[in-house]
Amino acid sequence: MTTSSAPGKVYLFGEHAVVYGEPAVPCAIERRASVTVEERDDGRLSVEAADLTLDGFTVTWGADGPDRPDVDVPTPLVEAAMGYVDGAIEQARDAADRPDAGFDVTVSSEIPLGAGLGSSAAVVCAAIDAATRELGVSLPAEEVADRAYRVEHEVQDGQASRADTFCCAVGGAVRVQGDDTRRIADVPTLPFVVGYDGGAGDTGELVAGVRALREEYGFAADTVSAIGDLVREGEAALRAGDLEELGRLMDFDHGLLSALGVSSRSLDTMVWAAREGGALGAKLTGAGGGGCIVALDETDGAKTALDYTPGCEEAFRAELDTEGVRAE
Ligand code: PMV
Repeated sequence: MTTSSAPGKVYLFGEHAVVYGEPAVPCAIERRASVTVEERDDGRLSVEAADLTLDGFTVTWGADGPDRPDVDVPTPLVEAAMGYVDGAIEQARDAADRPDAGFDVTVSSEIPLGAGLGSSAAVVCAAIDAATRELGVSLPAEEVADRAYRVEHEVQDGQASRADTFCCAVGGAVRVQGDDTRRIADVPTLPFVVGYDGGAGDTGELVAGVRALREEYGFAADTVSAIGDLVREGEAALRAGDLEELGRLMDFDHGLLSALGVSSRSLDTMVWAAREGGALGAKLTGAGGGGCIVALDETDGAKTALDYTPGCEEAFRAELDTEGVRAE
């Protein structure tokens, strides 16, 4: 039996613009997904994911496709989760040159699903790492990242950047621009506070919405480029350890993302609650439409304000996690 875990992430800056070749800076956070695998000898795959969705589910599948003993009507989230785990196991079989290996897989996660915190990337990275190690092969984190990206790319119909998977695999704060992925050294302590509205956005739909706006309006394309410029300023602030400037730029980024139509009433409400609670800055994180915001706050003010904000289902502190995928 082998267990690996990988962290979730927030976007400090740059979601959506990264799809058009601008840089983005995601940061791993201390909330993890864990995957335990045990090889089985019939070549089939059995997946148990008790807390991956509100329902939890167990599915078993093999060459003939899935049986779904515990899922009457698989929700789109369950279908997607199955796709991610299936893809991760395929990558592990390929990496270990064991195309017929079967596994019992147990997934558990502290990361809300589809809410902009990189839940799928964390599950995929942890699953690839655990399943390859179960087969006696140990992959460097960069290879886990690359293989996890291939899975996300496939499951998300080609609409995935390397940001989530690279960040979850290597940990810390990273910079991603197209295929250029690197870890950012000497990052200060980043006092993140996350607010979660209990919902999820549809990444494909939101990415398509930004694409349509960009095609219709030159100023929407300029807005995407402005996010790129903002990210470059943000990298300088990160290097300088200037948290106040980082906060100002997070506020600005949220404004630009709102202009691109990817915020929502609940995200805006949580962003304003965090700011009024004393955060240095706050913005949505990930695709938007619903899900999570991230604020920067060294005091308890933003978290307390979010705790009392109607529509905020959960607020928590999440320090930067410098460790990526790891054996447990
Ligand atoms: O919501 P998430 O964590 O899947 O992030 C999506 C980020 C986008 O930039 C909108 C898309 C991408 O693949 O980078």
